[in-house]
Amino acid sequence: MSTEITPVIGLIGGSGLYDIPGLEDREWRRVHTPWGAPSDEILFGRLGGVPVRFLPRHGRGHPTPPSELNYRANIDAMKRAGCTELLSLSAVGSLKEHLPPGHFVIVDQFIDRTFARKKSFFESGCVAHVSMAHPVCPRLGDALEASARKLGLPVTRGGTYLVMEGPQFSTKAESELYRQWGCSVIGMTNMPEAKLAREAELCYATVAMVTDFDCWHPDHDHVTVEQVVKVLFSNADKARALVADVVPALGARRGPCPAGCDRALDNAIITAPEK
Ligand code: ADE
Repeated sequence: MSTEITPVIGLIGGSGLYDIPGLEDREWRRVHTPWGAPSDEILFGRLGGVPVRFLPRHGRGHPTPPSELNYRANIDAMKRAGCTELLSLSAVGSLKEHLPPGHFVIVDQFIDRTFARKKSFFESGCVAHVSMAHPVCPRLGDALEASARKLGLPVTRGGTYLVMEGPQFSTKAESELYRQWGCSVIGMTNMPEAKLAREAELCYATVAMVTDFDCWHPDHDHVTVEQVVKVLFSNADKARALVADVVPALGARRGPCPAGCDRALDNAIITAPEK
């Protein structure tokens, strides 16, 4: 059996990132899934010859809040569009002094505090338990870090992303609690996205782009959308530069994922096959 693959890089753009302007052969295409409609059409194209698929997570114009996103449809649509890996580009608040607005964190862990979302492709009839011990593909993390450093972007490798339900921002007590847990950043969307990517056997990594200090910081009493939006668009420009550099690097892969993301279901399904 051949293990040759042609990487197709999926990009999921968060708040402030609704398009990838430099894409060659660009075409927005509707992708249907059995889970319902994804957030928007998917932008098909190429960067440096490498096939890219871009999905604006909240839809163009940002009409859909985090709790109402159809995460299953989004991940399945990206899989059906041919993606072999997913880069999630996401706006977050910072829970640490040394991660100021404008900083990028290539997170390696998540704490999932969401409670009102469909989190699995597996439902009664077929049960699977995939490992989430290492939710981020280290190969994608390496590539993102190398590109960010090459471009001189302010970046930290590693950190825990606390995923809250939202849409309201945290109370001060919650923000302090997450800091005590050692979390680095807080956002509203990367779970169940990372869990579903693993079930779909897609490599997944997040670039968490800091827009604010949440509400714990003595000099920043509370978060406002105005504050978030101010930083969002400069972060999006940096994210586009990062994508332009990292996509050709990821496009060079030919073998299977060294971390096994593309084989996550090999030992995960517990339901007996039908005789
Ligand atoms: N997204 C951007 N900033 C955030 C914050 N402070 N909390 C949750 N999600 C965010």
